[in-house]
Parts: sequence; C-alpha cells; structure tokens
Amino acid sequence: MPAVPNGVRGAVITGWGTALPEKVLTNVDLESMMETSDEWIRDRTGIVQRHVGGTTAGLSTESGRQAIEMSGCDPADIDALILATTTPDRCVPATASTVQELLGLSCGANDLNAACSGWVYALVNAHGLIAMGANKVLVIGTDTLDRITDYTDRNTGILFGNGSGAALIEAVDGPGQLLSWDLDSVGAAESALFAEIGGVLEMEGKEVFRRAVRLMADSATKAMAAAGVDAEDITLVVPHQANIRIISASLDRLGIPLEKASIVLDRTGNTSAASVPLALAEALDENRVADGELILFVGFGAGMSAASAVVRWSPDAAESIA
Ligand code: UT7
Repeated sequence: MPAVPNGVRGAVITGWGTALPEKVLTNVDLESMMETSDEWIRDRTGIVQRHVGGTTAGLSTESGRQAIEMSGCDPADIDALILATTTPDRCVPATASTVQELLGLSCGANDLNAACSGWVYALVNAHGLIAMGANKVLVIGTDTLDRITDYTDRNTGILFGNGSGAALIEAVDGPGQLLSWDLDSVGAAESALFAEIGGVLEMEGKEVFRRAVRLMADSATKAMAAAGVDAEDITLVVPHQANIRIISASLDRLGIPLEKASIVLDRTGNTSAASVPLALAEALDENRVADGELILFVGFGAGMSAASAVVRWSPDAAESIA
C-alpha cells in the first residue's frame, strides 16, 4: 500500500478515449437466449445493455487514438504502450504489438492481465516507467468478453460486454497526480472466477460478490491511508463496473456516498479491464472533478485481484515535460 515517495518523477493524464462496438445486446434480447428477465437483471445488477463484437486490437486502437489526439502529443514520442486485457486477440503475440503498429507507435508494447483490476494495475505500472525515465506512456484497458461468455448461462451471460478505455500519461517536473496505490491478489480464491484456455467464464457469483465488496473496501482503505486522505476528501470514485450492488455495498463500507461514483455499467455491462477507464472518461467529459480534487480508482476481479489508486486531478498538461 505504498504512498508515492517524495522526489519521484510523476505524471499527469493529458488525454483519454473510449471505444464501444456498435452492436448492442439488451436485457430484453437476453430473454430469448436464456431463462432471465429484464426486470431481474436491472434489479440485481443495474445493467440494462452491453455492447458485443469488435476485436481487442480494434477497440484499443480507437480509444488509444482518441487519447493521443486529445493529448496533442506526437505518436513518435510515446515511450511505452501497456494494454490491460484478459481477452487478447491471440495467445501470441501480445495484442499490444498489433495496437502499436495500428497506432504508428515505435515503442515497447506489452499486454498485462490482472482481469478486471487490469487498467489500474497498468496505470501504476506506467507510473513506474515514468519514474524510470519514460516521458509518455499510453495505458489502455480493453476486453472483448463476448468471446469467452456463454450467452446461454444466466449466471454469467447477463453480466459481460465489450469495450475499451485509454489514457495517455506524461511526465512532469516534480510530483504528478498519483499520490498512492495498492495492488492485491488472493490466488487462493482463483477458482471463484476463471476461464480455461479455449473455454468460457465460470463463476461462483455469490462468492465473487462477497469477496469483491471486502476486497474493494480493503484496497481503497489502504490506498487512502497511504495518501493520508479520508473518505470525505474524495470527490470522484471510479470503481470497477461489475454490479451496482457491489459498488454500493463497498462504498457504504468506505463511508462514501454512491453519488460520488461514476457509473456506466447500466449501458456497458461489465467490460473487465475497460470498465474503469470508460467510467473515468465519462466523468472527465462531464467535468466532475476540478483542479486539486481527489479521484479514487478501485477495481477488483478474477485472481482474485484488487487495485486502488488515489490521484489528485490537475486538468492540463502545462507543466508536462518533453
Ligand atoms: O468482474 C467480476 C465479475 N463478476 C461479478 O462481479 C459477479 C458477482 N456476483 C453477482 O453480481 C451476483 O451474484 C449475480 C448477479 C451473478 C447473481 O445475483 P444474486 O443476487 O447473487 O442472485 P442469486 O445467485 O442469489 O440468485 C437469486 C435467485 C435464484 O432463484 P431462487 O433460488 O431464489 O428461486 C436464482 O436462481 O435469482 C435466480 N437467478 C436468476 N433469475 C433470473 C439467478 N440468476 C438469474 C438470472 N435471471 N440471470
């Protein structure tokens, strides 16, 4: 649960982007595919629709391109690309390599798999690269879960969808936005949610729910303590979008009102590594955080993994270097 040490080279987010495939699968559509109902799914999850189709490389290229354009940086100046995904297009090579080529980058590129916590893991890893001298890092979270979801299984088929979100971070002179971070994994619980290679997602829903609430609250508490901030100091929470009842219960534990959370799951379902950057992008587009205010990222997922970060928002890159 480290606080970012004094004197470490920091970074700011200077651009962001999103991508969702065109095809929408509504709860009503699912009623003809499995024994479920729109009403049950809305009540028990908060989800109304999800997007399906597309490829991990294609969606990543779209969100990544938007983030680069918003930042105004030259793609040739990007030092690294990290793509958080559980659903690479192929086993080998990393899908990040394909995205690198499609975006015209000439930097190191790797995939990172920490399931639904992946984008927050990638953001922390990217700050590590910045501390080691990188100037600009593109951090993408993308999943195409329709490829590993059994849409006849009502236990899992109602939850998942496809999407992508990206942020470009740039080094600054002096401290950057990231104040603290926490990365967790409870490998002993991996059987609660998994997919074999070539298989589909299998899940003990209740067990995942129970652990998720605790993991999110614990991870966020550790990150806030390391940053030296309290729940009431947080302006915006960007949680993993799995189930509105999980978000609500974990924020209850933390003493943070649900209104402070950015919620997109009603329109996207659970998009795994894409869910945090999708929710972040929407909140930033809606100007929900002002200069100097605090954002709490908190994710959980298969593994079972968890990841949190506390960020002090600064809205422009005026101080970024290189
Ligand atoms: O990124 C991490 C990904 N995974 C998660 O976050 C999943 C965490 N778990 C959950 O979100 C919830 O456990 C689920 C949404 C998967 C299930 O919700 P629940 O409130 O835990 O439902 P349940 O399994 O306790 O089932 C309650 C009732 C049962 O009927 P009876 O036994 O009370 O008559 C189920 O058979 O609801 C029934 N049911 C459904 N009915 C309609 C379960 N799934 C469905 C369904 N449609 N899809």
